[in-house]
This record gives sequence, structure tokens and C-alpha cells, in this order.
Amino acid sequence: MHQNILSQSKYLYFKIVCVLCVVVIALYIFEEPRVAPNGGTFLGYTLGVIALLIVIFLIIFGIRKRSYKSNLGDLKHWLSAHVWFGLALVIIATLHTGFQFGFNIHTVAYVLMMLVVVSGIWGVYMYLNYPPLLSDLLNSKTIVQQGEVLIAIDQSAYQILGTLRDLDEATRVRIEDLLNAAANEPIILQWSDRLKTDVTKTKTYFAMQELESLFLTGEVSLRNLSLAMVKRVNHLQQIRDFIQLKTLMSFWLLFHVPISIGLLAALTAHIFSVFYYW
Ligand code: HEM
Ligand code: HEM
Repeated sequence: MHQNILSQSKYLYFKIVCVLCVVVIALYIFEEPRVAPNGGTFLGYTLGVIALLIVIFLIIFGIRKRSYKSNLGDLKHWLSAHVWFGLALVIIATLHTGFQFGFNIHTVAYVLMMLVVVSGIWGVYMYLNYPPLLSDLLNSKTIVQQGEVLIAIDQSAYQILGTLRDLDEATRVRIEDLLNAAANEPIILQWSDRLKTDVTKTKTYFAMQELESLFLTGEVSLRNLSLAMVKRVNHLQQIRDFIQLKTLMSFWLLFHVPISIGLLAALTAHIFSVFYYW
């Protein structure tokens, strides 16, 4: 069966999180504290500690993601667990607060947590809708593979050109220039241009147009070369689309990760302040 972030190992992490949440909700309903439910009751502390452990686990994912040699479990499992435990936080931390909110550092921590969770949902939406993004995250090959396809197309274009015997020298030199210009143009653009996906201003597109018009004006032998450039344009378009998505994802991470760090700082202040005023 095809597995995605959410359904990893037959929804293993969803099931674990469901059991945890059902237990937590039952304890909350059946607990009879002497005061109104809040973070300071026995259950309040327990839920707070569980929430803190989950936050630490979620942040460790960032470290695991970058340690390629780690044998600390498969990244797919980490990501699925990350998503489900991240969502469970909404229930666990909310019950921890006993719905007591105000203008204070405790509520700042809570709001930051909710912002990270909401942004996480957007990230999952992107990964579910654009599968190449996920394979890129999991084995970081997609972009390399796509680049290799372009190189293969270039090699076959030069080969085809080599087999064309009846071209006059001027046309051959012109075609060589076109192929060189296409092959040498950068695949990945400057940061400022990465959201643009239009390939009609590229050297590849120009080469395709020129070869097409040479072919249409009588150079019948250029048919295969012209088709190779059409293929190159399509692949370049795919790569640019993919890079646009990756760029959007890095903007997203620029939100998700710093707010996670802000959350950790606010939580430290929250815990410090509750013990300080104890
Ligand atoms: C994700 C983790 C956590 C979040 C988002 C969070 C958030 C909150 C919020 C919003 C409140 C209500 C504050 C109010 O009454 O105005 C609260 C209360 C409280 N929290 Fe946390 N908390 C977390 C973890 C913890 C941890 C790990 C501890 C202790 C080890 C803790 C201890 C307390 C205590 C003692 C209270 C009651 C404070 C009071 O009534 O004045 N919390 N928490
Ligand atoms: C308080 C809760 C959360 C914290 C502290 C947190 C923190 C993090 C951190 C540190 C990373 C690693 C990013 C990196 O190093 O590049 C990450 C990645 C990610 N998080 Fe969260 N997260 C939280 C909740 C969530 C939730 C609820 C979801 C989904 C519903 C989610 C979805 C993701 C996804 C999809 C990634 C992978 C992104 C990528 O690497 O491209 N997160 N998160």
C-alpha cells in the first residue's frame, strides 16, 4: 500500500496519539480537583510535563533530519510521528491550561505553540500535494536526478548533431552555439529568481525555437535535434517548478523553525515563572 506522511506504518503514530489523547481526555473529565482545572493541579503538571517532552521530541526532529549517518530510526517514521504528536499537543497542552488564558507569558507560550502547529499543517498539505518534495526531503535525490536528465538530453543532442552529415558549416556552428548556450545556462537560479517558473526567456527555449524554425524552413535532418530541445524545455520547466516549491518550503521553514525556538524560550520562561512564584 502506498504510504504518506499521515498513514506511515498503517497509521501507527495516529493510533498511538489517539490512545494518548483518549487517556488524557478521560483523566481530565474524571479528575475532581479541589480547584478549577489549571496547570497547577497534579494532572495539570503531568500534562505540562508530557507537553514539554513532546515539544523537545519535535525539535529533535530538526537534528535528526540533518544527521544523514544517524541510525536513530527512519526519517519517514520521524516525520509521521512529528506530525501526529505535534497535533496531539493541541489537546494535551490545552487541557494542561484548564482553559485559563490571559495576557501573560504562559499564554504567549500557548499562542506560539498554536502558530507552529498551524504552520505545520500547511507544511503537511504541501508534502501531500507535491510528492517530489517529500522524496527530496527523504533522500535528497530528486533535483540531482532531474539535473542528470538534462545532461543526458544534452549529450544525445550533441550526438545527433555529430551524425548530421549534410549540414553546411555555418549552420553547424550556429547550432553548436545554441546547444552550448542551453547546456551552460544555470539549472538553479539566484535566490531572488527562484519563484519564477517561466522558461520562455531561457537559452534552452531560444534554442528550441531556432531549431524548430530551421527544421520548418527545410532542414529536415534537424527533426530529432528539435525534438531533443522540446524535451529539454519540458524538463527545465519541471525543474523550475520544483525549485519554486522548494523555495516556498524554505520560506515556510523560516516560519516554522524560528517560532519553534521562540516557543522553547517562552516555555522556559513559563516554567521558570511558575516555579519562581510557587
Ligand atoms: C507546551 C507546553 C506548555 C504550554 C503551552 C503551557 C501553557 C500554559 C498556560 C497557557 C497556562 C495557563 C496560565 C494562566 O493561568 O493564565 C499554564 C499554566 C501552568 N503551567 Fe503550563 N504550559 C506548558 C508546559 C508546562 C510545564 C512543562 C510545566 C511545569 C513543569 C507547566 C506548569 C504550569 C503551571 C504550574 C501552571 C499554573 C500556573 C498558574 O495557575 O498560575 N506548564 N500553562
Ligand atoms: C510545537 C510543535 C512543533 C514544533 C516545535 C516543531 C518543530 C519542527 C522542527 C524543529 C522541524 C525541523 C525543521 C528543520 O530543521 O528543517 C520541523 C519540521 C517539520 N514539521 Fe514541525 N514542529 C511542530 C509541530 C508540527 C506540526 C503540528 C506539524 C504538522 C501538522 C509539523 C510539520 C512539520 C513538517 C512537515 C516538517 C518537515 C519540514 C521539512 O523538513 O521540510 N510540525 N518541525
